[in-house]
Amino acid sequence: MSKYRIAPSILSANFAKLGEEVDNVLAAGADIVHFDVMDNHYVPNLTIGPLVCEALRKHGVTAPIDVHLMVKPVDRIVPDFAKAGATYITFHPEASEHIDRTIALIRDNGCKPGLVFNPATPLDVLEWTLDKLDMVLLMSVNPGFGGQKFIPHVLEKARRVRQMIDATGKDIALEIDGGVGPANILEVAKAGVDTFVAGSAIFSAGKDADAHRYDSVVAAMRAELAKAR
Ligand code: DX5
Ligand code: ZN
Repeated sequence: MSKYRIAPSILSANFAKLGEEVDNVLAAGADIVHFDVMDNHYVPNLTIGPLVCEALRKHGVTAPIDVHLMVKPVDRIVPDFAKAGATYITFHPEASEHIDRTIALIRDNGCKPGLVFNPATPLDVLEWTLDKLDMVLLMSVNPGFGGQKFIPHVLEKARRVRQMIDATGKDIALEIDGGVGPANILEVAKAGVDTFVAGSAIFSAGKDADAHRYDSVVAAMRAELAKAR
C-alpha cells in the first residue's frame, strides 16, 4: 500500500448530489474525504456541518472523514462531529482559547486530533502539542475558498514539520491543503507531505467527464507520487 493518501476536498463537489460525488471519488482511488467546515466568522464563507457528515455515513461512506474545522469557537461543535462519524478533527490553534484542552476533547470523543497552520502562522505551538496529535495540516492557501493558488513558502514549512514529526518517531500524518494538483503534487511530496488535499483540481477535472468520474485525475496524481520513491 502506498504511504501517500489523497484527500479530495468536497468543497468543490456538486453539493446537489454529494453522496454520489463522494462514492465516485473514492471509487477512483481516493483515500480520505476532506470535509471543510466554515462558519462565516473565523473564515468569510459558510459551508457544511455535522448533519452533512452524518448523512455521508448513513449513505454508506466508510472511508476516513477528515473534518477541517475553520470555525471559532471550536469546542462546542467537536462532540457533534464525533457523533456524526468524523475520523480526524483538525482545528486552527488561534481559534481555540485552550489548545491542549481542545486536543484532549477531540481524543476523548474518539476522534484523531490535528492542528492546522495558516500560511503565515508560526509552528511554535507544535513544541508542546506534536506528540498528542495524529495530524499536522499545513494550509498552502489562506482558508475560506477553493480554487486558490498554492503559496510556495509552505514547502519550506513542510520540510521543517517533517523533521519534527520524524524526531517524535510517531505515526503523525503531514497533510497539505490548497492549490494542490497533478502539476505540483510531486514537489509537495518531496517536501515530506504524505496526505494531499485537492478540491478544485479533482472535482473540476471530472466535471465534464461522463457521470462525473474522477479516475484519470486521481491516477495522474498517483503517477506523480510514484516518482517520489
Ligand atoms: C480552503 C479549504 C480547502 C480547499 C482546497 O479553505 O480548506 O480544503 O477546499 O481547495 P483547492 O484544492 O481547490 O485549493
Ligand atoms: Zn480544508
